[in-house]
Amino acid sequence: MCGIICYVGKDKAEPILIEGLKRLEYRGYDSAGLAVQDGDQICCHRAKGKIIELEKKIGDMTIPGNTGIAHTRWATHGEPTEANAHPHSDNDGNVFVIHNGIIENYYSLKKNLKKSGAVFKSETDTEVLAHLIASYFDGDLNKAVRQTMAKVEGTFGMAVIHKQVPDEIVVARRGSPLIIGVSDGGTFAASDVSAMVRYTNKVVHLNDNELATITADDFTISTGQAQTVQRSAETVEWAAEDADLNGFPHFMLKEIYEQPDTIQNAIRGRIDRGEGVPKLGGLSPVWEQLKECRHIVIVACGTSYYAGCEAKYVFEKLTEIDVTVALASEFRYRKLNFAPNTFIIAMSQSGETADTLAAIREARRKGASLLGIVNVVGSSIARETDAGVYNHAGPEIGVASTKIFISQLTVLTLMALLLGRHQNLSLTDGVETIRALEALPDQVKDILSKANDIQAIAEKYHKHGNWLFLGRKYGYPIAMEGALKLKEISYIHAEGYAAGEMKHGPIALINPKMPTVAIIFQDSMYEKMISNIQEIKSRRGPIIAIATEGDEKIRELADDVIYIPKTLDILNPILSVVPCQLLAYYCAQLLGRNIDKPRNLAKSVTVE
Ligand code: M6R
Repeated sequence: MCGIICYVGKDKAEPILIEGLKRLEYRGYDSAGLAVQDGDQICCHRAKGKIIELEKKIGDMTIPGNTGIAHTRWATHGEPTEANAHPHSDNDGNVFVIHNGIIENYYSLKKNLKKSGAVFKSETDTEVLAHLIASYFDGDLNKAVRQTMAKVEGTFGMAVIHKQVPDEIVVARRGSPLIIGVSDGGTFAASDVSAMVRYTNKVVHLNDNELATITADDFTISTGQAQTVQRSAETVEWAAEDADLNGFPHFMLKEIYEQPDTIQNAIRGRIDRGEGVPKLGGLSPVWEQLKECRHIVIVACGTSYYAGCEAKYVFEKLTEIDVTVALASEFRYRKLNFAPNTFIIAMSQSGETADTLAAIREARRKGASLLGIVNVVGSSIARETDAGVYNHAGPEIGVASTKIFISQLTVLTLMALLLGRHQNLSLTDGVETIRALEALPDQVKDILSKANDIQAIAEKYHKHGNWLFLGRKYGYPIAMEGALKLKEISYIHAEGYAAGEMKHGPIALINPKMPTVAIIFQDSMYEKMISNIQEIKSRRGPIIAIATEGDEKIRELADDVIYIPKTLDILNPILSVVPCQLLAYYCAQLLGRNIDKPRNLAKSVTVE
C-alpha cells in the first residue's frame, strides 16, 4: 500500500528519495511522486505507474535541495493518475503533502474548503490536508498541522513541507505507521524501516496522534495537544543487505531459501534443552496470568490466519488450552464474549494490518488481554499488545508471505510448549519436541535441495487453470496456505479444502485437467487421506502428493510425489509448506508473472 520516505540533511534529497521509493516498491503502488525544497522553492514531480516513470519524468533535470518528501500511492480515492498522485498542494503551491491512510470526513471538509475558495486539482481525500494546512498556516508549520489533525477523521501518516519554512519537515500519524530515522548525514521519516535502512538503523516510532518536526540534525515530537514528548532512538536489527536480492531473481525465492535461518532465528536463545521448556522473555509481563489461561483466540489475516489455524491443532496437542482462530476482518463485527482469563493473540508479519489492529482494539474494549506475534519491531500491533514474541525473521519483502509463516508456526509451537510444560506435558515430550524443532533447519535444507524436482512438476502442470489442495488436520491449513500461495502469485485458480469436505461439493470439479495437491502425512489421518486420493484417482484427476519420506504406497497412487523428511506430527506443517511455496513460485515464473509484486496486492494492508 502507500509508502512514505522523507529526508532533510546534508546531502541532495532527490537521489535519497528515489532510492527510498524503490525500497518501498514491494508494498504495492500505482503512482509515485516527490517534492524537493531548496530555500523558498519547491520542485514537485509525479507520475502514474512505476518509479521508473517518475525517473523518466525527472530525466536529466537537476533538482537542487536537501529537504524532500516522496510517496508511492495505492489508489483508494480516485484512479491511479498523475493528478491523483502525491504530493498534493494548496492553491498557491506553498504547502506540499504526502499521506497514507484515509480521511473519512474529506467530503464535508472539501465542501467547506471549496466555499472558502480552495480549488481542488485531484479526486483524492489527501488534497483536503494541503488546503487545510494552508488555511491554518501563520508561519508555524507544526501548529498548522496540529490544527489540521484536530479537524480530520480517519487515518493518516503524513509529511508536509512549506515554501516559507525551509529545511524542516513536519510529520504526523494516526493509524498509519510513521517512523523517524536518525543518522549523521540527516534525518529521515518513513512508513517503514526498509525505505531508509541503507542510511540508518536508528529509528524513533511516532505514536498515534503525535506529530514531529524533523530538521537535518534534530527532531522534536509532540502530542496533538502540543505536549512535548521525549523519546530516544532504538536500533533495529535489519541491515541494508537484508533488503537486497543477493543474487536471487526474486525476493520470494530468496525468502524461501532463508527459511532454515528463519527457524534458527525464532528458536535461538529461547530453549532450555534439559528441561524441555522454551524461554520467551517477551511474555514475562503477563506470565502469572498467562500460565492460568484456558482460552486463546488468535486473530490474523491471510497467511498469518492460516498459521493460526495450524496453531490450534498444536495447542490442542501440547496444552489444555482451547484455541479459536478468527479472521481479523470478521472478528470485530461479532458479539464478543470472552471467558475469564482469555488471551487474544494478534499475529502479523507487518504489525500494521488494519483489520488485525481493529480486531485487537475491539478486544481491548471488551477487556481481553492481548499478545502479539509480530515480525516488525516497534510496529503498531507490537506496541498495542500487552506482551508478545517477535519473529526476528528480518524483512519480508516479497508480497507473498513465506518465511514468516514458518516463523509464526515455530513461535506458536514454542509458546504452546511453554504453556504445555506448565500444564500436563511431560519432560520427555518437552525434550523430544525441542529436539525435533532443532532438527528442522537441516530438514528444510533437504527439501530445498529438491527444488529442481519441484520445478519439473511445475513445468508439467502450470498451464492447468484450476487446482485443488487437500489436507486433513495438520495438513488442512497447509492446503489453504498452498492454494493461497499459488493463486496470489501465479493467478491460477486454486482452492484449499479439508479433504473430508471433498465429497460435499468439490469432487464435482475433479477431472483430468484439475490437479490436486494432496498433503498426506504418516499420522492418524493417513488412511483417510489415501481414501480421498483414491476417489480422485477414480475420476482421473492428477495427484501431486506431498508425503513423508519412506511412504512407498503413495508412489503407486500419485502421479508425482514430493517427499518431506520425517518429523513429529505437529511439525509436519512447517516442512510441508516449503514444497507448496516452491510449486507456486515455479508456476508463477513459468507463467511470467510479477512474482514479488503481484497485481492488485500490497504487502502491508493498512486500510480496512
Ligand atoms: O502483515 P500481516 O501478516 O498481518 O499480513 C496479513 C496478510 O495480508 C498477508 O499474509 C497476505 O495474505 C499475504 N499476501 C499472503 O501471502
